Amino acid sequence: MKELDAEVTKDVVALTAAVPMPVPLQKNGYRVGDLEPSGAVNRVAEASGEGGEVRTQVSPYQAIPASGKIVRNLAEAQPVLSFNTEKERKEAVSKVIRDYAELLRKRTATHMGYPYNLAFEYGDLDCLLKYCINNLGDPWIESNYGVHSRQFELGVLNWFAQLWEVDQKDYWGYITNCGTEGNLHGILVGRENLPDGILYSSDESHYSVFKAASMYRMDCKKVRSLVTGEMDCDHLRRLLEENKARPAIVNVNIGTTVKGAIDDLDEVIKILGEVGYTEDRFYIHCDGALFGMMIPFIKEAPLVTFKKPIGSVSVSGHKFMGCPTPCGLVITRSRYINALSDDIEYLNSRDATIMGSRNGHAAIYMWYTLTMKGYEGFREDVKRCLKNAHYLHSLLFSKGIRTMLNERSSTVVFEKPRSEKFVRKWQLACQGDIAHVVVMPNITKEKIEAFVKELCETRRIN
Ligand SMILES: Cc1ncc(COP(=O)(O)O)c(C=O)c1O
Repeated sequence: MKELDAEVTKDVVALTAAVPMPVPLQKNGYRVGDLEPSGAVNRVAEASGEGGEVRTQVSPYQAIPASGKIVRNLAEAQPVLSFNTEKERKEAVSKVIRDYAELLRKRTATHMGYPYNLAFEYGDLDCLLKYCINNLGDPWIESNYGVHSRQFELGVLNWFAQLWEVDQKDYWGYITNCGTEGNLHGILVGRENLPDGILYSSDESHYSVFKAASMYRMDCKKVRSLVTGEMDCDHLRRLLEENKARPAIVNVNIGTTVKGAIDDLDEVIKILGEVGYTEDRFYIHCDGALFGMMIPFIKEAPLVTFKKPIGSVSVSGHKFMGCPTPCGLVITRSRYINALSDDIEYLNSRDATIMGSRNGHAAIYMWYTLTMKGYEGFREDVKRCLKNAHYLHSLLFSKGIRTMLNERSSTVVFEKPRSEKFVRKWQLACQGDIAHVVVMPNITKEKIEAFVKELCETRRIN
């Protein structure tokens, strides 16, 4: 036994010693001492004209920029540190973390662009951070790994099943890593049930929808959208008629990424019927990443419900719900899921998800926020967001800035500010000549006023 131990120890030492120390990267992405390919010397180019603070850069794997429109603010590495004494190590690490926490605090204070609700308090759950909670496999079938949070995951799934009106016995779902994973899953379920199906989605859809088409090698038809960002249903009808021989998998946006437009689910269902698609020949995935959690609380908004012939709905957990880590959720009908599930002996569970290991903390964050806020809390949040969105919209309008706000949306679209510095400070998501602010519960009236004041100042300078 001792000999075996010595043998194992020797091998492990040899293995660890054989791993080379990582070579530090230069700022331009090359390793120190690498020869840069010709033509790549000027990979860091001044682009903004704002004192060189923002640079157009190329990622190490790219020969040329993919698009002239993208300002590449290449991230800088925080090196892994090494020290001679434990005391030095501890002091240095705690300084790095303190500085980083301060940076996060500042950046959180001036975030306006992405649809993330940054107003949350999960202090009660800090005690769970010392556990590696992993819900690998199917939520309903326990793996042999016991450090999981399936009980919370099922509680959250049942809450959403009730919201979207599907009986517990008739649905299947899981907590995903993000809205993208929900789309990848929903569209995969559609494809596995209708293998010859064509994917239809508007050109305002999130890029994850087209990524799914490409990953699964699906034929995909881009449906034109209206100026509001909503799917042009006349164009959808024409495309469906032209391709009637093949089943249809339709992605319906419950809030588009840039303009916050809501596709007309009822009209899509009506058109499918009128063109001659029976329910066994179409599958609808509702991408509710953004507004999936908001529209149930908005009067007269189109209802997302499994009482309608939809196949799946997905939502992001770190957006309106305000979870502190990226996460999401997808729900489909149980009759559809068999097409992509397999028993896996190693898991002692069933594999029907996109990812293997799954974030068990996310389930608890979602459960916690649903429990703490309840329907009333979410309704209040939605009301405040819509009110503040209208306030921002009218303030921009009053300053002569072109702006748009869709009915029942909290996404305020306006002219892209010319100052890159301003865009970076307020972390605005931009596309073409427009930018938007997605008003979430953390965006207060005071923040809106400070934002518009500063925007006006930069416009005077430019
Ligand atoms: C409409 C829509 N779908 C999907 C996604 C992707 O969500 P996530 O960032 O959680 O992957 C987004 C993100 O903004 C979105 O706006």
